[in-house]
Amino acid sequence: MSADSAVAREELKGEIKGASPLARDTVTPGTHPNSRFHESAIKHVTGRASYIDDLKAPADALHVALALSPVAHGRLTRLDLDKVRTMPGVVDVVGFHDVPGHTDIGPVFPGDPIFVEDEISYVGQVLFAVAAESHRAAREAVNTALAQGIAEIDEQPACLDPVAAAERGEFVRPTHVQQSGDWEQALASAALVVEAEQFVGGQEHFYLEGQACLVQPTEDEGVIVHTSNQHPSETQKLVAEVLGIPFHAVTVEVRRMGGGFGGKETQASPWACIAALIARRTGRTTRVRLPRADDMRVTGKRHPFHNRYRLGVDEQGVIQGGEITVIGDCGYSPDLSDAIVDRAMFHSDNAYSLGEARVTGHRARTHTASNTAFRGFGGPQGMMVIEAAMDDIARRIGEDPLTVRKRNFYRPGRQTTHYGQQVDQIKLLRELVEQLETSSEYWARRRAITEFNAESPIIKRGLALTPVKFGISFTAKHLNQAGALLHVYTDGSVMINHGGTEMGQGLHTKICQVVARELGLDTDEVRITATRTDKVPNTSPTAASSGADLNGQAARDACVKLKQRLFDFAHEHLYQDQGLDREDMRLEAGHLVAGHGESEQRIPWGELVQAAYINRISLSEKGFYATPLIHYDRNVGQGRPFYYYAFGAAVAEVSVDTLTGEYQVERVDILHDVGDSLNPAIDIGQVEGGFIQGMGWLTSEELKWNEAGRLISDGPATYKIPTYGDLPPAFNVKLMEGHPNSMASIYRSKAVGEPPFMLGMAVWSALRDALASLADYAEAPRLDTPATPERVLLAAEELRSRYDSAQLERGAP
Ligand code: MTE
Ligand code: HPA
Ligand code: MOS
Repeated sequence: MSADSAVAREELKGEIKGASPLARDTVTPGTHPNSRFHESAIKHVTGRASYIDDLKAPADALHVALALSPVAHGRLTRLDLDKVRTMPGVVDVVGFHDVPGHTDIGPVFPGDPIFVEDEISYVGQVLFAVAAESHRAAREAVNTALAQGIAEIDEQPACLDPVAAAERGEFVRPTHVQQSGDWEQALASAALVVEAEQFVGGQEHFYLEGQACLVQPTEDEGVIVHTSNQHPSETQKLVAEVLGIPFHAVTVEVRRMGGGFGGKETQASPWACIAALIARRTGRTTRVRLPRADDMRVTGKRHPFHNRYRLGVDEQGVIQGGEITVIGDCGYSPDLSDAIVDRAMFHSDNAYSLGEARVTGHRARTHTASNTAFRGFGGPQGMMVIEAAMDDIARRIGEDPLTVRKRNFYRPGRQTTHYGQQVDQIKLLRELVEQLETSSEYWARRRAITEFNAESPIIKRGLALTPVKFGISFTAKHLNQAGALLHVYTDGSVMINHGGTEMGQGLHTKICQVVARELGLDTDEVRITATRTDKVPNTSPTAASSGADLNGQAARDACVKLKQRLFDFAHEHLYQDQGLDREDMRLEAGHLVAGHGESEQRIPWGELVQAAYINRISLSEKGFYATPLIHYDRNVGQGRPFYYYAFGAAVAEVSVDTLTGEYQVERVDILHDVGDSLNPAIDIGQVEGGFIQGMGWLTSEELKWNEAGRLISDGPATYKIPTYGDLPPAFNVKLMEGHPNSMASIYRSKAVGEPPFMLGMAVWSALRDALASLADYAEAPRLDTPATPERVLLAAEELRSRYDSAQLERGAP
């Protein structure tokens, strides 16, 4: 343990669990040695970073186009693929009956046929695939074939309404309930009952690199799959099962993704399975790259949710208990929806104690693509219900929403969630919010805005501070494990490989830093290689923000083991004569160091490695990690599903033109908790990017389907992600300092990938605040999301008409 760590540990006595090291490294980015830039940064900006489409393929490689269902629900009554086989340039055509092995590629539960057999469940479901000499030839064959009517479909009425589906009991998985105490009694005895409904929209991942893979047949029965993919091991399994071959015959490699955001956790696999099928049938390398519009139609999105709450509060607005119901629109199949709706339920409290509460989560089945993981994994949709409630309670009792939020925070005596987990670090949340309150000048700006709004009839300004508490760990316990493989070569250079994948989030950079730190080397001396299932097997998806937590610990484990072996060797062979203390050895600044002061001995790393090799000491090691302590009993809805929580808060200010609904985000201040940061520069990037993506979800990104269930927002022209011009002109982002993780995570850091996404809720709440000024802050209007200018305008008009007529009735001027 470093001296610094020891001091930190002393200061935080009683709040720190476990013996692993601390690192007080959270300082201004750019100035700190840990603020390494992204391991591929130069390659990213010079175009030398290879994505799937950049990989060279043999001249005879095949290109695939998919034939997609034009209807949302129906039966495929005839499919004449023979006609397609003879079309120009076509080399192979595959459908359901051409699959030698498994035809269901559902990742967790069955329900996802690789091709339609007879039942059609959404517009965009894959009917068959065509492989041709060029992508154009493949697409033309698909279009001509469909125009010639080779597929006959008996269309049936589609269900596109998840609420109706839930009422009819049409679920992809059974309903789950979490309950603490007597929620009915809490409601009955409360001073005030607040209730409302909301619709929270979905979100398209819009990764810059779409779904893509390149599959090479091997000399035996297998394949090598290059894929843009968050879950190589699952793709390996599914490809093997589809081909009917052992897992060891399939190798999956991922160098990097041009963004994943959850959209490549399960939904990168189908294309790999299809390409592998064709590669094996033809013996030729096969490429799939979905055109953007196909990608948007075929793949699932963030789940839209319908939420309801009924909460009893006391005169101070403190929640006593009540009930929350969330309905996730899962689309046609389970995919990851069980875990996603669970996570929505786990986060329906956000940072507030629900008291005695019951939380119910339904998984509705509709005829759309199967909705899937997306940054936050249901957490954001669950939090929206309680953030809506906070604003509603504040209006009812006539207090500032921030005051009500703070009164409801977890605190001593109200420290246990509705699913039975104790919330640690409650002091951190309070301090973080107080710091942000001060640095953002919340109360001064509140006064200024109130004055401004009183004078300004059309333009209304709004302000909101919203917190985030996000649970870190996969809620499926077995996924909380990771492996790493460490090689040291005889020139002293180091190679690390681990189970995580790089999607732009900087995971590989952080892992190199961990290895460099453990081995006392410069980060440049550690090279990371592409994620491969034949290097580290049976890995979990890179998801749940836990990439660095899990793989960082696995990489460290490998380093610690190798280090111990090198120390043993040095003790026996190199320092024996001097009788140096084995316990005193360390790796520092490119040297093995033993002893202190006068008796200090130093051997350069390169010499140590050479000597070890000559003496036949292995220079390779594997590492493993499994998160301790976590458990959750789904039968009773209680447990400790999360190793720890990450916290954050954001203040947003908006101005709204209440005659058009147009608005501008004027200023955003963020303070976010990453424990002791592994890399402040990368973490700040994650916080900024997460916030903007969350803001886009709640404001401009609107998914639209027509009445027949066809996605009509299927490209950048109709689906609006935030652009440079949507950045708030004032955007102050800081990391919380001096609060290492209370749990023994890697160097006491915290996961950063998903939590900041939910900071975007501040913008939505600020919009409601601006609108509430039209009702003299006596109520906050319902504002479903995305809160597009249209929705903002409708809410403004509705409020204005009610409040203006109420004033007329009272005879006000
Ligand atoms: N950042 C970038 N640049 N690109 C991404 O695709 N995905 C997010 C987040 N940050 C993503 C990202 C999601 S959904 C998760 S779960 C985490 O990164 C995964 O990486 P980590 O566990 O290594 O943080
Ligand atoms: N988060 C993200 N991805 C997941 C999870 C989770 O909790 N469980 C399974 N996949
Ligand atoms: Mo992230 S949604 O857990 O891939």
